[in-house]
Amino acid sequence: MRIIHTADELEAFVEATKAASKTIAFVPTMGALHDGHLSLVELAQQKADVVVVSIFVNPKQFGANEDFDKYPRTLNEDAKLLETKNVDVLFAPSVGEVYPPEGVREQRAGVVGSTFEGASRPGHFDGMLTVVGRLFDIVQPDFAIFGAKDAQQLFMVKKLAGALYKNTVIVAAPTHREPSGLAMSSRNRYLSDAQRISATALYKALKTLRQPLSLTLEAARTLIDSTPETKLDYIAVVDPEIFRPVTDDYRGKALAIVAAKVGNTRLIDNLELDLTEQSE
Ligand code: PAF
Repeated sequence: MRIIHTADELEAFVEATKAASKTIAFVPTMGALHDGHLSLVELAQQKADVVVVSIFVNPKQFGANEDFDKYPRTLNEDAKLLETKNVDVLFAPSVGEVYPPEGVREQRAGVVGSTFEGASRPGHFDGMLTVVGRLFDIVQPDFAIFGAKDAQQLFMVKKLAGALYKNTVIVAAPTHREPSGLAMSSRNRYLSDAQRISATALYKALKTLRQPLSLTLEAARTLIDSTPETKLDYIAVVDPEIFRPVTDDYRGKALAIVAAKVGNTRLIDNLELDLTEQSE
């Protein structure tokens, strides 16, 4: 596996790969890799000739009171893991490489970007989209793999690609779960054993949702808020096409989304729902 730290070197690699008529699948990450990330890598390998994984903890997508400083940075372990998966290139740039003094194209997340995750984390999606755009400019991927766990991020990235990166196909990788149902996340390593058990309430609550949503959402809120050390931020059911909440008369595919703090750790999860046939 080649480890590249500069944008220039990666751009040269990309040029040579394209000149050899090979396709590129890209897996952007912030590191602290777990099995969920490795499943993204496997999906990438099925899609293209060459796989590039990036590890970059993007300062622009963290708010002032968030965990940017303490976000786990485990580059050596991550590199070893990626090596075992036969990844072609690990791109691990510095902040200066990603954000050079001359500036980069800033992205704006728009209206959906200020709801749910965006309401709780102002500016998060602008920062996330800006780094994704910058990385896409460098890597020029044919495919880019994103975890379905970050449902709103996936929604926004698809919009970005549809508008500005039409040659990049965005591929959603299914959420990887622990046997307890807890969605795998780099932030799970902040949880104590007791908090890990509490954290399973998020998925449990999602699984109870059906029509009439006004009733089942209320019960799901109670379930989460009565779990030790757990404080609900939001639980909602949205139309996946527009990422806006649906009501009790909605029938069709839907996406249930949840965010809660367990101890000091903010976790998110989601579940696809089929509300087509449900009777009240
Ligand atoms: O999902 C993540 O890990 C990050 O938001 C991403 C897509 C790597 C951008 O920093």
